[in-house]
Amino acid sequence: MTTASSPAPRGAFSSRLGFILAASGSAIGLGNIWRFPYVVGENGGAAFVLIYLAFVFLIGAAVMLAELALGRSTQRNPVGAFKAAAPGSLWRLVGLLGVITGVAILSFYGVIAGWTVGYFVKTVAGDFAHQMTADESTALFGTFVGSPATSVAYLAVFLAVTAFVVYGGIAGGIELVAKILMPVLFALLLFLAFRSVTLSGAGDGLRFYLAPDFSKITAQTFPAALGQAFFSLSLGMGAMITYGSYISKREHLVSAAGIVCFFDTLIALLAGLIIFPALFHAGLSPTSGVGLVFQVLPTLFAELPAGQLFGAAFFLLLAIAALTSTISLLEVPVSYVIDEWGWTRPRAVTVVTIATLIIGVPSALASGAVPFFSNLPGVGTDFLSLMSIIFGNYSLTIGSLGLALFVGYRWGITAASAEIEADGTPFRVRKAWGFLVRVVSPAGITAILIYIIATGNYF
Ligand code: PHE
Repeated sequence: MTTASSPAPRGAFSSRLGFILAASGSAIGLGNIWRFPYVVGENGGAAFVLIYLAFVFLIGAAVMLAELALGRSTQRNPVGAFKAAAPGSLWRLVGLLGVITGVAILSFYGVIAGWTVGYFVKTVAGDFAHQMTADESTALFGTFVGSPATSVAYLAVFLAVTAFVVYGGIAGGIELVAKILMPVLFALLLFLAFRSVTLSGAGDGLRFYLAPDFSKITAQTFPAALGQAFFSLSLGMGAMITYGSYISKREHLVSAAGIVCFFDTLIALLAGLIIFPALFHAGLSPTSGVGLVFQVLPTLFAELPAGQLFGAAFFLLLAIAALTSTISLLEVPVSYVIDEWGWTRPRAVTVVTIATLIIGVPSALASGAVPFFSNLPGVGTDFLSLMSIIFGNYSLTIGSLGLALFVGYRWGITAASAEIEADGTPFRVRKAWGFLVRVVSPAGITAILIYIIATGNYF
């Protein structure tokens, strides 16, 4: 893909693989390897995982297909897509919510992505070379994220690299690099999972992760699992509308959506298989929050021959996986201001990136650097976690609800199906999909939102 927004001529992905790579690149990232394990940990383990899987396949996959079809049909950025499919209506506000959500997610996602770069540097420098106890690893993490200058600097660096890629329209180049590196990351994850499950004490971790204890389910479990499904699949804010607008009409959207959902889920499950056994082995707590994987992983690398090498490779690959996600996060607001406000790409990228950096500063200071942001008075959590819940869970959930209602009732299953069949393959599961988009997704999402409002248990 070239620059992901200019209205015409719209560069199409040259090959099917090109699209699958870009969409998987957006989906696979910190959401799978950082967010999934810590959210599983905070929500009690295996029961949460089961609910998450149900949401991915009953709601996420259907919404993904709907977003891709809308994007390919309208050939627009998210706001433009709603405008084109329903001129003059308020549906465009769903697109606008997506644009705002993109900036908000990028602001804290960039902080974590910055940490991965920092951990890469630390690993190369040999900070984790010796046998690492859980206490040491936790202390090291605390010192690292507790330094205001370091956190903000890494955030700025990561946003700058993202901006550079989006500005130069070289996302396609990055995706090509990712094409070679993601299988390497996958192989490394498999290897790490193998080492982790053979550690002493791994059994407790596996039990926590895989043997459901339904008494751990609370009202919070549902929005957290649903939000995680949307977050991990990059749904509910228009990223897949944007990528859909680049797929050729010859491609079969159903299998494309299926492949992305499958690999995204596989990587998340694998990440859990690495983190939980190692976590119990090291004696860390599953409820450590946003720092969880950064505290666990160095203890695992210390158990490996050539751990420094594996550790460095891991953090580097993770940073690249994060980059293919931040590109899609930035592309949504950038393409919006270019298409809808008539800004030039350089101006759009510069202004949106600077705004994101400013919004991201409190998140960068929320893990100890500034006590106020690290433990918001009256909220009971830190600023970054709060952003992750509000925008990562609720905003994507509301955006996905809007999208399902729009495609189900306004644009319509017939029009969407015609788009899905544009490649000439009959859409065999059309009825089932229509039911998921029109009934299951909206009803499921609404029920969860009402339940949460009724219990008042928002976080
Ligand atoms: N899906 C990405 C990840 O899991 C994050 C993301 C969310 C990207 C929403 C785009 C839109 O890392």
